[in-house]
Parts: sequence; structure tokens; C-alpha cells
Amino acid sequence: MTEKDFLPLPYKTLPAEGKITWKAPSNIALVKYWGKKKDQIPANPSISFTLDACATTTTVSFSKKEDTESFSFDVIFEGNRKDEFKPKILTFFERIEAYVPFLRTYHFNIETSNSFPHSSGIASSASGMAALSLCLMDIEKQMNAGMSEDFFKRKASFLARLGSGSACRSIEGDLIQWGGHEKIAGSSDLYGIKYPHEVNPVFKNFHDTILLVHKGEKQVSSTAGHNLMHGHPFATERFAQAHDNLDRLEHIFRDGDLKQFIKIVESEALTLHAMMMTSMPYFILMKPDTLHIIHKIWKFRESTKTPICFTLDAGANVHVLYPESVKEKAIQFIQNELVVHCENGHYICDRIGNGARRLI
Ligand code: PMV
Repeated sequence: MTEKDFLPLPYKTLPAEGKITWKAPSNIALVKYWGKKKDQIPANPSISFTLDACATTTTVSFSKKEDTESFSFDVIFEGNRKDEFKPKILTFFERIEAYVPFLRTYHFNIETSNSFPHSSGIASSASGMAALSLCLMDIEKQMNAGMSEDFFKRKASFLARLGSGSACRSIEGDLIQWGGHEKIAGSSDLYGIKYPHEVNPVFKNFHDTILLVHKGEKQVSSTAGHNLMHGHPFATERFAQAHDNLDRLEHIFRDGDLKQFIKIVESEALTLHAMMMTSMPYFILMKPDTLHIIHKIWKFRESTKTPICFTLDAGANVHVLYPESVKEKAIQFIQNELVVHCENGHYICDRIGNGARRLI
């Protein structure tokens, strides 16, 4: 599909008003997206586990307004008006308007809340943009009752990508691939797809315990970070490596090869941070506690042969990944040895989820 396929035919009926709620999860990348071209086109393909507990719930109330010249909306975050969120949503509306041309017809009241604390260092842009895109698609569906479920999800992912790249991986579960890849049929730079190859049941109930090492605001926005990949000395190699890692994962997912899975996932996390450390300007987002946790995971894995590993996003927090079969052992270890490295002892127990759902 191309961008043009997401342009709607003229709407026949426009509802006067309405209200919809969607809950969309966050996701954690296994092969990382880092570096983008214009319009949030990824420089390399990525793949992620969709999460379950970490999610954003968004209610959009809409009513027809007289003037159709400008966008009109209010944002309420966890019960309070948040005008500081408006510029990001305005940019999003400008980017997607051609694809959802009813945006200037309505006044929107956007009420949103996260299941995780705002100051947790967990980015809410993926779940937030996914939830908002699903609400907008729901409005479009009211004007086009014949829209298929597949198209609905695909276009929601397409819109979400224009809000925040990785958000396109937060519509469905449980393993989502985004970005054109030679050997992944149906893969696209424009939206995420359900991973189409065989996945061993060992990957079905994976856990992700998120250790909140540092809850502050991000030092570097992800947009600034992606842009530092332009002219990065290792960019070409890195993008090729992501393609390669996706290739390797095909067998690993099929065979349930946790040993090889761990190698790729940890290498991807460290490569992401290595890219940041070798860009100009350079920066380090890991904290001393991030490294303590990594070393303890390595030691525990070596001595107990437990298939537990880590990944990182663009921050100091650590995602600890392990299969259902070692859940008790892993949680004991996390509580006994890793929680001391978390800010105020805070961590979130999450697991692979099935994607977004409509609440009302
Ligand atoms: O979607 P963005 O622009 O916030 O970028 C997310 C980038 C990483 O989280 C670091 C990696 C990824 O693939 O999710």
C-alpha cells in the first residue's frame, strides 16, 4: 500500500457529535528504530513486543463547529487542562489532515491518562499517539461503515506513525514489525504489521519488568536523537545490522532459541546507546545503576542458566525480559538484587499484550 491508499473518498455523512474511548499499550523494541527520514519514515526496520500494563486511555468527544477554517481542540491530561501538550497535537493534526480531512469540522475534547506515572521516564508518545489515532479512525469509520477491520488497524498504525514513529507498533499485539524488509512479506515503512512468520510458544507469554532507574525527563528528545543519525559515522553499518538482525530472528522465533534471542536483544540495546555515545554531540543516557543492573543480570544468567535478559529504550530504565517458565525465579532475583537500583524502589511488572482495545 502507498500513502495514497489512505486518502479517503469524500465523506457522505458527517455525525454532528460523538464520544469514543480507546486504550492503547506501549511497546518495547527488540530491534531498535533509531534514525529517520522525512515524515517519520524509518531508516531501518524494527520489531517490538506489544506491552499490556503500560497504556494510555484516551477519550475524544467531538462536536461540529461553525467555522471550518482552523483546528480547535482542548487537551485534558489526568483531569487537568494541559495547554503545553497542544503544540504536539497541532503538529500531528497538520501532518495527518490530508488523510482524515474532517479534523477542521469539529471541536475535539481530548481527555487522556496513562496507567504509569507521568514522571516514570516511560515515554507515553507511543501509547498516546496510538490511542488518539484509534479514536480518530473510529470517527472516520462512522462515516464509512463498510471499512474493513484490517484497513481500520492499518490506517490507525499509519496515522500513529505520523505522530511518533514507534507508535505505529502500538495498535496490535503481540509481536509487531515496522519498516520495509526484503524477507518479510507485507512489511512497510508506512505502518506496523503483525510479524508474519512462525513464532514459538516460548515467546508468547514473555514478561517485561521495567526497572525505573531514573524517572526524570529525557535528556535528549527522540526527534533530536533520530536526527543525530544523519551523517553519523556508523549509520550505514547500523542500518544494515538492523536488517541482518531481523533476518536472524526469523529462525530464532521459529525455533524458540532463547540463547540467540538474548544475544540479539542485548546487542540491539547496547548498539542503540553506542549510537548515542558516538554521535556529535554525544551523550550517555545510562546511569551507573543501569550498568549495575546489566552486570547483575549477566552474572545471574551465567550462574543459574536462567534465560533472562535486558533491553533499553532511549533512557536509563531497564526492561528485564524473561519467559513465563522462569517467572518465579526471575521475580525473586529482581526483588532481591535489582530493585535496590531503582529510584525509590519503583518498578512495573508488564508482559506481552494483545494490542489496543475500544472501551466505550
Ligand atoms: O517513536 P520515537 O520517535 O519516540 O522513537 C523511539 C525510539 C526507541 O524507543 C529508542 C526505539 C524503538 O524502536 O522504539
